[in-house]
Amino acid sequence: MAELASSRLILVTAAILCSLSLGSECRSKSRFINMQCESYNESYAVFEKCKLNLLGRGRVGADMYLKLFQTPVENCWINWAMYRRYNGFQPFLYNVSTDLCQLLGNPNAISFQGLVINAIKKGSNLNHSCPYNHDIIVDNMEFSDDFLKTLPLPQGVYKIQLRFATYKVWRVQVAVFIERTE
Ligand SMILES: *[C@@H]1O[C@H](CO)[C@@H](O)[C@H](O)[C@H]1NC(C)=O
Ligand SMILES: *[C@@H]1O[C@H](CO)[C@@H](O)[C@H](O)[C@H]1NC(C)=O
Ligand SMILES: *[C@@H]1O[C@H](CO)[C@@H](O)[C@H](O)[C@H]1NC(C)=O
Repeated sequence: MAELASSRLILVTAAILCSLSLGSECRSKSRFINMQCESYNESYAVFEKCKLNLLGRGRVGADMYLKLFQTPVENCWINWAMYRRYNGFQPFLYNVSTDLCQLLGNPNAISFQGLVINAIKKGSNLNHSCPYNHDIIVDNMEFSDDFLKTLPLPQGVYKIQLRFATYKVWRVQVAVFIERTE
């Protein structure tokens, strides 16, 4: 809880800094540079697709297909952790676990989780409340700078790692690597 409160505080401070600056930090460019998917148990779930596509004009889309062998899923937690590359990848700013079913039903748009979940909802079929009784498809989801507008991250390479648990067992992990340039 303390962790959540402090990340909200950082987010709000960042948003204020961003609007006070003349927009230089807020207009920098970010793009996906790599993506990795891993299933911890291939009898439970398998990634049939996990790749980045060049969409032209420097745009990159994330494509993923996760086949689920045991549905419906009515209980799902997500852990998101951010890393920044600096002598290897070091934990950076976020490491939060949340009830994904609850969040899908009612995201708080101001929180970091709200921003991530709204981005996921727009770019995938992970876009309704639980239960889930179908495979999970992400179709050329683009990384939007809007998402980071409220987070003036310094330039660098970041890894956002999402881990998913159903019924209290960690099942899969998806990591996306983002490069932010000025
Ligand atoms: C992997 O998942 C299958 C299907 O849910 C389950 O029967 C099996 O026990 C799991 N294996 C491990 C090592 O957890
Ligand atoms: C996040 O926190 C959990 C629980 O405190 C810990 O087990 C895990 O290693 C942490 N992950 C990262 C990337 O720091
Ligand atoms: C969720 O995504 C699927 C696939 O893109 C789409 O067909 C469906 O209409 C979406 N549902 C909602 C509630 O947005």
